[in-house]
Amino acid sequence: MSGRGYFISFEGIDGSGKSTQAHLLAEHLRGQGRDVVLTREPGGSPGAEDIRRLVLEGDGDRWSPETELLLFTAARRDHLERTISPALDAGQVVICDRFADSTRLYQGLARADLRDLVDQLHSLMIGREPDLTVLIDMDPETGLDRALARGTGEERFESFGDGMQRKIRQGFLDLAAEFADRFVIVDGNRQIDDVAADIRQIAEGWLP
Ligand code: ADP
Ligand code: TYD
Repeated sequence: MSGRGYFISFEGIDGSGKSTQAHLLAEHLRGQGRDVVLTREPGGSPGAEDIRRLVLEGDGDRWSPETELLLFTAARRDHLERTISPALDAGQVVICDRFADSTRLYQGLARADLRDLVDQLHSLMIGREPDLTVLIDMDPETGLDRALARGTGEERFESFGDGMQRKIRQGFLDLAAEFADRFVIVDGNRQIDDVAADIRQIAEGWLP
């Protein structure tokens, strides 16, 4: 499952600008003639997009933490099989808005203390990490305001509130230290263009 391509993920709290920046980086790299696949989780393949609706819509207690972990892992497995691995095998650059670090955080730490189970399922069913993970770090209140202002109806997680966002922000910083070989932290409390310029420079430095 390694492939010849290059795998970049974006992580950060809700509303930190991941989708915005993933899109801008994809456009920039395409402008340089690279073959880029822009994708997202949960989702990124038809089956995983179906699972996305199951996990993001409805009440906060719709699923137990364990069932939720299985659903996110099932979605990721399908996404990997159908979208990510074929693209990497074809030598493309894959840019993914969230990946397994989000599960380590949301299912492993924030909702319940399931990190061991998350790690076991990851090694059994996924077994792949990004080559580079861009963590957009920012103030949780601003992020939550931005996320709720979108009004997409996918607010099951946002509805867990501000204390949770703070916990998740710190959790991402801890993960960045744990996986220091692939994480780069970017300050997201700035204008979109300034954040994008930093990320372009980082990606150009890391890409083969
Ligand atoms: P995420 O994917 O991390 O949830 P988005 O990229 O969807 O975040 O951004 C959330 C909202 O905030 C969007 O409406 C987006 O246009 C806006 N936004 C993104 N980055 C910035 C920024 N640096 N400053 C102000 N608004 C931003
Ligand atoms: P996303 O669409 O990226 O939301 P946002 O753009 O607001 O950041 O993800 C939706 C929610 O799903 C988000 O709150 C985080 C959560 N999530 C998990 O709990 N586990 C996971 O493995 C993933 C990929 C996302």
